[in-house]
Amino acid sequence: MKKIMALFCALLASAAAQAAETGNANTATATEDLTMTQNAPKILIAYYSWSGNTKEVAEKIQEEVGGDIFRIETVQPYPEEYHATTTQAKQEINEGFKPELKSKVDNIAQYDVVFIGSPNWWGTIAPAVSSFLAENDLSGKTVIPFITHGGGGVQNTVKDLTAQCNGCKVSDNPWTGYGSRTMGIGGWLEDLGYAR
Ligand SMILES: Cc1cc2nc3c(=O)[nH]c(=O)nc-3n(C[C@H](O)[C@H](O)[C@H](O)COP(=O)(O)O)c2cc1C
Repeated sequence: MKKIMALFCALLASAAAQAAETGNANTATATEDLTMTQNAPKILIAYYSWSGNTKEVAEKIQEEVGGDIFRIETVQPYPEEYHATTTQAKQEINEGFKPELKSKVDNIAQYDVVFIGSPNWWGTIAPAVSSFLAENDLSGKTVIPFITHGGGGVQNTVKDLTAQCNGCKVSDNPWTGYGSRTMGIGGWLEDLGYAR
């Protein structure tokens, strides 16, 4: 983000200098034009979280890169009890079930970069994330997965997310972290070029 701001400031300075050189007193117009053309990428952070870990990671990402955050929620909540949830999830995943979601992202087309967060459920992404991918056209967008797990690591999560994200440019540098671990996120985002 620092780099983008530095580039932006340099461009503003050069526009102002150019306006002064050409005797154009209307520097405000030049500034406005630049603002229109040099916009930073618009970022969305969308995540599903049953017990709060992925939510923590999502909030940390937003703290670092800004952008909008969207919590993916199902109309029918999962049971509160862990084993009941794992049993239901296993059946849903085996059947390819996509639960109905509570709400929609407002104008998904406006985003250039979409971080998508899911817990690892039975080695893959949560069904709610599959619903999100089916409902939203993310083609042409940069998609950056972030996965939390309980010890199994990434397993098939990113592979399955990629397969369900039609036409997306899925980053080859996703976040995979145990539980709600956020240590290292700053460095990861910097590597991706999105840290501010
Ligand atoms: C239904 C269900 C299935 C899970 N399956 C796995 C798994 O296959 N591998 C794993 O490492 N963790 C598994 N976990 C643990 C979660 O991935 C882990 O606790 C995650 O950080 C939870 O994220 P959340 O708090 O955002 O829901 C499972 C948890 C649930 C509820």
